[in-house]
Amino acid sequence: MAEENASFEEALKRSRMIEEDIKEHKERYRVLTGDRPTGSLHIGHLFGSLRNRVRIQNEGIETFIVIADYQVLTDRESAAMISENIKELTKDYIAAGLDPENGRTFIFPHSHVPELNQLLLPFLFLVTNSELDRNPTVKEEIKATEGRAISSGTYIYPVHQAADILAVKGNLVPVGKDQLPHLEIARTITKRFNKRFPMEKPTFYAPEPLLSEAPMIMGLDGFQKMSKSRGNTIMLKATADETAALIKKAKTDSERVITYDPENRPEVANLLKITSLCTGEAPEAIAERIGDGGAGKLKAVLTESLNEYLAPLRAKRLELEGNDDYIRSVLTRGIEKARAEASDTLDKVRKAMNMTI
Ligand code: TRP
Repeated sequence: MAEENASFEEALKRSRMIEEDIKEHKERYRVLTGDRPTGSLHIGHLFGSLRNRVRIQNEGIETFIVIADYQVLTDRESAAMISENIKELTKDYIAAGLDPENGRTFIFPHSHVPELNQLLLPFLFLVTNSELDRNPTVKEEIKATEGRAISSGTYIYPVHQAADILAVKGNLVPVGKDQLPHLEIARTITKRFNKRFPMEKPTFYAPEPLLSEAPMIMGLDGFQKMSKSRGNTIMLKATADETAALIKKAKTDSERVITYDPENRPEVANLLKITSLCTGEAPEAIAERIGDGGAGKLKAVLTESLNEYLAPLRAKRLELEGNDDYIRSVLTRGIEKARAEASDTLDKVRKAMNMTI
């Protein structure tokens, strides 16, 4: 555990250095990151990762977003909702500020990029089963299945994720802590490939994780992570009234005076934190302002701040709602670009592996 924390600290430090370097050398970086299309997004996603992606995109960095549709099958049986969720996700992305019209932001589902998927095959020869066995994130996921049989696809999905990144030559991967072990596998694959199949110029460059100061916000129940399956979220696409109703039901405590005390008053602290993320004001200052207005006032302040903050995003989302043709065109362009990159990568891989004809 201590070792794990040390490497986390290390990764954080490196991420800060990269953040500095991005400002000077944006042409050196290409972001690849993504999500599983398991549903539409909530404010935990917005504050935890989306806002950060948009910020980096707006620094002028090329940004590839993979919608990891195959990965949905790692923890669920049914594909019934995948197509719909791909579109939902794309709408949330665009509403949140990812801009497929800027000429350098591309959104694509990986099932539509055959060259990317083919890259999985050579990569599978570069990792051992026991390395996959040791991946802590996969271990957690396996534990969560409570004894159900694990498919090979679930086992090797971190290798597939390396293909997501390396096929399109991503070298900067904004992710959360849980994804660091996968990034490590991608880095290992890079090094082993270059060593085993040496070329004058290395075929792959090791991708770097980018950890942000992403705040972890709790669900409205105040004691666990915000997650749709736990029914404690506020969806980005919720209306202002729905948002007000959800916040009204949020858990607080019986103390009258509002204070920011994450240790002893986690529910109240969480609501203050979300308010703070919307207004930019420190949570302590918000608490002071509310004072003996109590939980009622706190909820009113949060409702107003959040609805105001989300208003432009929601307006944009509503505009996209009836426009599946546009969403399809965004994805088609993303797929074309990803295929062009991945096809070039695959050519290089064949050359390095002496498989040209
Ligand atoms: N596994 C990631 C998640 O569940 C999604 C993902 C798929 C991803 N491919 C990726 C993230 C490549 C970063 C890079 O959130």
